[in-house]
Amino acid sequence: MQNFDYMTPTRLIFGKGAVEKLPDAIRPYGKRVLLAYGGGSIKKSGLYDKVKVLLADCEIVELPGIHPNPKYDPSVLEGVRLCKEKKIDIVLAVGGGSVLDCCKAIAAGAKYDGDVWDLVTGEKPTLDALPVADILTLAATGSEFDGFAVISRTDTNDKIGYFSEKVYPAFSILDPKLTFTVSKRQTAAGCADAMNHVMEQYFTGDTTLLNDGICESMLRSLMANARACLANPEDYRARAEMMLACTYGCNGILALGNAYSGWPCHAMEHALSAYYDITHGEGLAIITPPWMRHILSDKTLPRFVKYGVNIFGIDATLPPREIAEKAIRATHDFFVSIGIPMTLRAVGIDESRIDEMAHHVAETGGLEDAWVPLAESDIAAIFRASL
Ligand code: NZQ
Ligand code: ZN
Repeated sequence: MQNFDYMTPTRLIFGKGAVEKLPDAIRPYGKRVLLAYGGGSIKKSGLYDKVKVLLADCEIVELPGIHPNPKYDPSVLEGVRLCKEKKIDIVLAVGGGSVLDCCKAIAAGAKYDGDVWDLVTGEKPTLDALPVADILTLAATGSEFDGFAVISRTDTNDKIGYFSEKVYPAFSILDPKLTFTVSKRQTAAGCADAMNHVMEQYFTGDTTLLNDGICESMLRSLMANARACLANPEDYRARAEMMLACTYGCNGILALGNAYSGWPCHAMEHALSAYYDITHGEGLAIITPPWMRHILSDKTLPRFVKYGVNIFGIDATLPPREIAEKAIRATHDFFVSIGIPMTLRAVGIDESRIDEMAHHVAETGGLEDAWVPLAESDIAAIFRASL
């Protein structure tokens, strides 16, 4: 078991009516609030009006229109400008992971004199940040309980996972009822994203029975509850369990003591989203089975056998290779069953930029130190097998 040094300082306020706690939760941080949101779902649902009433005694500055796969330019730059100009005390994200990620970068940029991109790339350390908090409306990323922000830059085709311990949310308000209006497509994509977060921590070396058990239970929970949410979008129990399972995804708790996996599917998917602006969870679902097939070997076989038997109930007495192949097929079939388009072509990606994207992944970070190392040619092969 590997050493670790771990902290997640975020307060989770979870359940029906949790939004009512917003005034009390925000009070210690000040009265000048940057209220950031996406393309209008919170106006349609009535959440925007509710937040305005709850924050009636605050000075609110708004940053609307944050897109999925949030952009450095204009959203992050505009948010940083507003924070500095209006002397904002706290950044409040109301929406999905994209709004929250954008707000984390804004919170850091607000306390930095240079270009916030220096912080995102890690070229300069993040020494300080405004407090950031959220009311989450979509179960997927786990951003509500971690210190990551994924920011895209269209001029350079970069989509970078930025981490700083300064940008963990001060508090996250999670009312599963707020996710009732999430479309079937985004519900399925959210499930695929969260499942992949678990897989990125499960398919690695030096794991423990403890972590394996938590991961396996999460995968079974995510699959069962995604099916239930799709059958009845207002199934509170299913939405609630889904939301909590997603929340555990990215803050590292599933892999404490494990060897680092390199998060290969995320590194590859971020290139797909950066070049084609596709939905993150769909990109992950598409490349996961081809990645699994690509890395299946004598070394990795025992993990796939364990995964196949414990997640899909495959007969443990079958030959190990057969179990692994059935498990990969079952993973693909599950994603099909929740409505995910399972080829790159189906989300608008063709052969033309595959080598360029593989080169980009290999150059920016690379996957040579992943659990199963991937060279540029491996990445290109996985993309081709996903077409
Ligand atoms: O923009 P609005 O109008 O709010 O609509 C959004 C958006 O179109 C809509 N939506 C959100 N809540 C809704 C709703 N529609 C109806 N009812 C609601 N209650 O859903 C659409 C997608 O929203 P988005 O925030 O983009 O989705 P998600 O939460 O999946 O976030 C994806 C982003 O997070 C990054 C991804 O790369 C991607 O950029 N990730 C962040 C991570 C992190 N910070 O730890 C880890 C992840 O691996 C991931 O990379
Ligand atoms: Zn993800």
